[in-house]
Amino acid sequence: MIRLRNVSKIYGKQKALDCAVLHIKQGEFVFLVGTSGAGKSTLMRLIYREEVPTKGQVLVGGVDVAKLQDYKVHHLRRRMGIVFQDFKLLCDQTVFDNVAFIIRALGMSDREINRRVRGALKIVGLHEKADELPTCLSGGEQQRVGIARAIVNGPPLLIADEPTGNLDPQTSMEIMEILEQVNKRGTTVIVATHDHMIVNHMKKRVITLDQGKIVKDMDCGTYEC
Ligand SMILES: Nc1ncnc2c1ncn2[C@@H]1O[C@H](COP(=O)(O)OP(=O)(O)OP(=O)(O)O)[C@@H](O)[C@H]1O
Ligand SMILES: [Mg+2]
Repeated sequence: MIRLRNVSKIYGKQKALDCAVLHIKQGEFVFLVGTSGAGKSTLMRLIYREEVPTKGQVLVGGVDVAKLQDYKVHHLRRRMGIVFQDFKLLCDQTVFDNVAFIIRALGMSDREINRRVRGALKIVGLHEKADELPTCLSGGEQQRVGIARAIVNGPPLLIADEPTGNLDPQTSMEIMEILEQVNKRGTTVIVATHDHMIVNHMKKRVITLDQGKIVKDMDCGTYEC
């Protein structure tokens, strides 16, 4: 599903990513770990085509994303859900409307929107809070809205950049369990995190970055302190 062929991303003199070679198959659950500045977000931004590589190729579903025209980038992003550390919710809109936002823009019928939003909220356990504003929710609940928004269009790929960075350990584990459920429904999940406890508990594939290089890639891996 995702293939990186000798990918480097260089900002000025800074090698954010250095000759990365990587293959992630459909249905995998992958952690990206490494110290601050190791290149985790850069790798993710290359996959969702927020950035293009300085060298090498990033293939998503067999397509070289650097070569996509702008309108095709929109098509690519529709097949991905993206979850951020700071949730990025619309504070003046209800939970329902936050989750519905993207599929409304796709011109779906109200009935279909309703069905999909309720379904996504059920997966994250927030179906009873559909009419609340995000400001009335806890951090963990807000992140669950972020996940519902990311999965509402049934994407084959979910990318989460430090989704638990602002949450306590118990809530972080609940968020990871939701991501695991999403993965069990067939979505490929890629999570960047600094959280040793979560990575070591989940026993998934762990890719370790250090100064832009992939230094370790292990199935059922761990994140050493
Ligand atoms: N837009 C940019 N312009 C210049 N340098 C950048 C840019 N984006 C990232 N970098 C640099 O590239 C390197 C990798 O950054 P990146 O954000 O990918 O790290 P990270 O592993 O996600 O770190 P963190 O854990 O702090 O989020 C860093 O040295 C960073 O300063
Ligand atoms: Mg980052």
